[in-house]
Amino acid sequence: MTTYDIALIGFGGVNRTLAELIATRGEKLSSELGFGLRVVAITDLRLGSLIRQEGIDLDLVLRLDPADGTFEDHGGSAQPDNDRVIRTCPADIICEATFTNPATGEPAASHVRWALEAGKNVCTTNKGPVALHGAELSGLARQHGLHFEFEGAVMSGTPVIRFARQLFPGLALNGFEGILNGTSNYVLGRMEEGLSFDESVREAQMLGYAEADPTADIDGYDVQLKVLILANELLGAGLALADVQRQGISALTPEDLIKARREGLRWKLVGSARRNPDGSVMASVAPAALPLDHGLAGVSGASNAVSFNTDLLGPVTVSGPGAGRMETAYALLSDIIAMHGARNPVAADA
Ligand code: HSE
Repeated sequence: MTTYDIALIGFGGVNRTLAELIATRGEKLSSELGFGLRVVAITDLRLGSLIRQEGIDLDLVLRLDPADGTFEDHGGSAQPDNDRVIRTCPADIICEATFTNPATGEPAASHVRWALEAGKNVCTTNKGPVALHGAELSGLARQHGLHFEFEGAVMSGTPVIRFARQLFPGLALNGFEGILNGTSNYVLGRMEEGLSFDESVREAQMLGYAEADPTADIDGYDVQLKVLILANELLGAGLALADVQRQGISALTPEDLIKARREGLRWKLVGSARRNPDGSVMASVAPAALPLDHGLAGVSGASNAVSFNTDLLGPVTVSGPGAGRMETAYALLSDIIAMHGARNPVAADA
């Protein structure tokens, strides 16, 4: 049986959950998928770094509390030392899930670059490197004959990017529109029920949907990055971030939402892109009052959905979770499964 050696860069919620999945379901996954996974390196801001060619004891590292010590107490280093670990660890695949600045894509973009330069395949859940450096990083992966996968950057593990790519052959994708941020969708729903904007945002934060600083969710920055990824990756738009017009939901009041409802409409924050007759692509993020029978009007709570506009099938809609630790960890697993199934499979020990 093939075993892929993986490195977990960042050991917060997402990669920790991936490690839990491997620890608890590893054997079941191997028999279902036809390959095994062995974690050979972990780096973390608080715990430092650990490399074990023979495989890391996941039960042990999952019990470690950064308050009680670092990987130095277990033969590793107290420093994350991402550059050295990514370049030198014996991994086939780097799973990148660090805390990254979405405005610069760093440090994730550098992590991806170092990994590809060192001949390692990469999957990441970070939006920044894909939205801001996607063409460069995909080009680097192609140049080295490696995989660069990022399903989790949009709608976590809900299949969107690969799904649309597999839908492409034989038809034209002319655009898409979607609800791509769970927090803003949840807030709009609660405001429609009469809650104030501030109360609704506070609730979304308590439920863990919104960021501690919810500006990226509310003002459309998060959706802007996701629209940019979908437009460039699926429509070949070649857009920069500034090309995606952005407007958030903070100007909407509960009264606006209740009035719209009386008129058979529902406000949603819609991220969309469409191909113009000249082949160029226009993309934007803006609130829209949708008729109740519109495919996106019924997407409620923190759910996400994206509706692809195709010439032969009409609209094709995918709906599912857009965030969450397990949902995003699954995206990394789905990336590894895609690498395994590809024509140039990941190099690994048999
Ligand atoms: N905070 C985001 C949301 C999840 O509310 O959808 C990560 O993109």
